[in-house]
Amino acid sequence: MQPDISIQQVSKIYEGGFHALKNINLDIQKGEIFALLGPNGAGKTTLISMICGIVNISEGRVLAAGHDVIKDYRGARKAIGLVPQELSTDSFEKVWNTVSFSRGLFGKPPNPAHIEKVLKDLSLWDKRNNRIMSLSGGMKRRVMIAKALSHEPQILFLDEPTAGVDVELRKDMWAMVRKLRDNGVTIILTTHYIEEAEEMADRIGVIRDGEIILVEDKERLMAKLGNKELRLHLQHPLASVPESLRDEPLELSVNGYELVYTFDAQREQAGVARLLRHLGEQGIDFRDIQTRESSLEDIFVDLVNENKS
Ligand SMILES: Nc1ncnc2c1ncn2[C@@H]1O[C@H](COP(=O)(O)OP(=O)(O)O)[C@@H](O)[C@H]1O
Ligand SMILES: [Mg+2]
Repeated sequence: MQPDISIQQVSKIYEGGFHALKNINLDIQKGEIFALLGPNGAGKTTLISMICGIVNISEGRVLAAGHDVIKDYRGARKAIGLVPQELSTDSFEKVWNTVSFSRGLFGKPPNPAHIEKVLKDLSLWDKRNNRIMSLSGGMKRRVMIAKALSHEPQILFLDEPTAGVDVELRKDMWAMVRKLRDNGVTIILTTHYIEEAEEMADRIGVIRDGEIILVEDKERLMAKLGNKELRLHLQHPLASVPESLRDEPLELSVNGYELVYTFDAQREQAGVARLLRHLGEQGIDFRDIQTRESSLEDIFVDLVNENKS
């Protein structure tokens, strides 16, 4: 099947020579939620803006719903909805009018039933006759989303959708995004919140310094890179890790009461058995044992710091 978005050898050099994106290749399939995860300044907004035709592409090409975003700008634009990172909604206009007008901009005939559904889905129906400038920040963000959905796009971009958003709206937004995906909409969201990628995404691309350093199915990513941690609470404190265990990935807590063993979740657990046997041989008793799987957060921190000079 043809991907919904195809990014082919795309680079971006801003005026002044800054190389913001370096040879990006990425296909996104219809109906998936793809999270572009990366720290501030990594190039997330730049990449989204290029796909949406807001920022020029220096090299390479991008297809959205089969349309070249440069050569067939209109076709591509119709297929795309964008919720930008920056709110630009300080308007005297009323909610209903803004959202309906937005649909018109995409050359779509009026469809009050659709606008009503979008406003209801976003809990904006009660506010439909309010002026946008009178709304709270969270409500304004909902209006931005409603605008992006006004023309029934098959691809929706959400650029840092929950930055500075309260918990309630974040949950609503996640629920709404899932619903859209269930209706076949392709979702690309950028985030520097690991929890968001972990919560939402089917697939995650990690971007750092203008390069996509990893693209992986979320579950697989977490399984592949996830480390497990085994924490042993000792009966009696140790002054140091025993000589015979120096080669093991072991760390002793400052108070000497905890031994932390980190191991690869993929590999079999032989290491754990060996460790426990050694401890027994050394007469080191423990009163409690806990395991913890590393979260995507640990993985992400490892990744973006890896080989970074
Ligand atoms: N118009 C511009 N001109 C020059 N550099 C820019 C411009 N816009 C963004 N940048 C730079 O490109 C890099 C990526 O920015 P951006 O795409 O906004 O990152 P992110 O969205 O991941 O935080 C940053 O270093 C930023 O300073
Ligand atoms: Mg950004």
